[in-house]
Amino acid sequence: MSDSTGIRLDRRTLLQSAGGVALGLASAGAGAAAAAPGRKRHVIVGMGSRSRMYLTALTKTFREGNELVGLCDTNPGRLELGGQVAAAEGAQPRRYLASKFDEMLAEVKPEVVIVTSPDATHDEYIVRALDAGCDAITEKPLTTTPEKAQRILDACKRNSRHVRVLFNYRYSPPRTQVKDLLMSNAIGDVLSVDFHWLLNTVHGADYFRRWHSQKAISGGLMVHKATHHFDLVNWWLGTEPEQVLASGKREFYTPAMARRMGLKSHHERCRTCPEKAACTFYLDLAADPAFQALYLNQEKHDGYFRDRCVFRPEIDIEDTMNVIVRYKTGTTLSYSLNAFNAWEGYQIAFNGTKGRIEHQIVEQAFTAGATLPPGAEKDAVKTRLIPLRGAPREIEPWTGTGGHGGGDEVMLREVFGQAEPDKYKRAADERSGLYSILIGAAANRCFSSGRAVNIAELVKGLSPPQVAPMPTHDGKLPMPGKA
Ligand SMILES: NC(=O)c1ccc[n+]([C@@H]2O[C@H](COP(=O)([O-])OP(=O)(O)OC[C@H]3O[C@@H](n4cnc5c(N)ncnc54)[C@H](O)[C@@H]3O)[C@@H](O)[C@H]2O)c1
Repeated sequence: MSDSTGIRLDRRTLLQSAGGVALGLASAGAGAAAAAPGRKRHVIVGMGSRSRMYLTALTKTFREGNELVGLCDTNPGRLELGGQVAAAEGAQPRRYLASKFDEMLAEVKPEVVIVTSPDATHDEYIVRALDAGCDAITEKPLTTTPEKAQRILDACKRNSRHVRVLFNYRYSPPRTQVKDLLMSNAIGDVLSVDFHWLLNTVHGADYFRRWHSQKAISGGLMVHKATHHFDLVNWWLGTEPEQVLASGKREFYTPAMARRMGLKSHHERCRTCPEKAACTFYLDLAADPAFQALYLNQEKHDGYFRDRCVFRPEIDIEDTMNVIVRYKTGTTLSYSLNAFNAWEGYQIAFNGTKGRIEHQIVEQAFTAGATLPPGAEKDAVKTRLIPLRGAPREIEPWTGTGGHGGGDEVMLREVFGQAEPDKYKRAADERSGLYSILIGAAANRCFSSGRAVNIAELVKGLSPPQVAPMPTHDGKLPMPGKA
């Protein structure tokens, strides 16, 4: 038996766990459903690693204006853990198995549903939340396929509501700074963009261990990961994608590669791997207390292994992807995503009518048991502005602290604290969420068909998001200085 994520569920354990959670519910206290005056009521669905950021925001950092009233998950163990973390901060959210999601909405009456479940399940909870009269906030990617995208768009229209998509990358100070430079006409209007994103063999490999390695759940890296990158470009340029051409393959995380590296074969998972001593992709879940608590100890409930072999044949996502996007303004993007690289981060260049911006970040990526590759400088930001015919200028990067280059904190303040007018228009709704995932979905189609895909073919009724004013393609330009 499998749930909608494809995670294997054993009927007996599921029924037993459902009973266990029902008991837990009783002990959560009936008073939990009573509204605290003046505080916005939230529930979270999907109690994995990402949910903790929201849990802390609602029960600690921003508890003054917010209240966490419900938690929901398919896995009763992770649900219970989430409840314990909330209780440590004095919150008493009621806990519900995913099959009781609608009951949760009816009983705890949230104003906001926060969706942090696996990607392909987002549409289900967003649509049900909107139809129940709630606001929905979702983690990226908004969803994984054009069909699910259409469901969300239709539900937004039917309920006259927008879905908030939390694109934390927009909020990281150096990326906001790039937006500021582009908006300020520093390089004129942008005619093309060259963008290369690298994932290393620590963090990058991790996508091939988990549910992310199944396209039906994650949409592949073109959707799951590149949604951040396509959204950044859409937002940086302030325009919408029109056509996508792409090519993708998997050549590194394969059984053949395991053999080339001296292993006899791929295996099911690290924990039981007979060749763990020889494999440097080995992940010891028991060595990391957080992984042990969140995943290893909860396997008994749903059979979800967080340490599956990165070389196993049933993986169906790509590790090497190249994409060309044409935008409505005529701007073109040349993008690549590579998941087995020597360092992690990205290089991007904006080619404008007055010059070029080159921007690079070496990202910190940490996975249990491993750190940055040798020589890589943590979170190093470089931004350079080069006029068409002038001396390059190094730009002092804007800085921040906390998760995702400081982006998470800025974003959480805006979402759960005091929202201030934002000239960069970083707050994204379903329109930005869809334009970003539709590039990935179009790329996925190209991978199999080899043909260019028009975004307009994929969903009906999608209108452009609100964007900050950007330099146009028809304004007057100064003649470049003498060469
Ligand atoms: N913005 C970012 O930088 C960022 C970072 C990490 C994850 N994410 C996103 O957050 C989401 C969660 O990722 P994660 O890393 O926490 O994954 P995870 O595997 O750690 O957690 C997922 C949780 O959802 C539960 N779940 C599975 N199927 C479900 C269903 N049908 N209904 C309800 N719950 C279900 C699982 O039991 C698990 O507790 C994903 O959409 C991911 O893309 C975003």
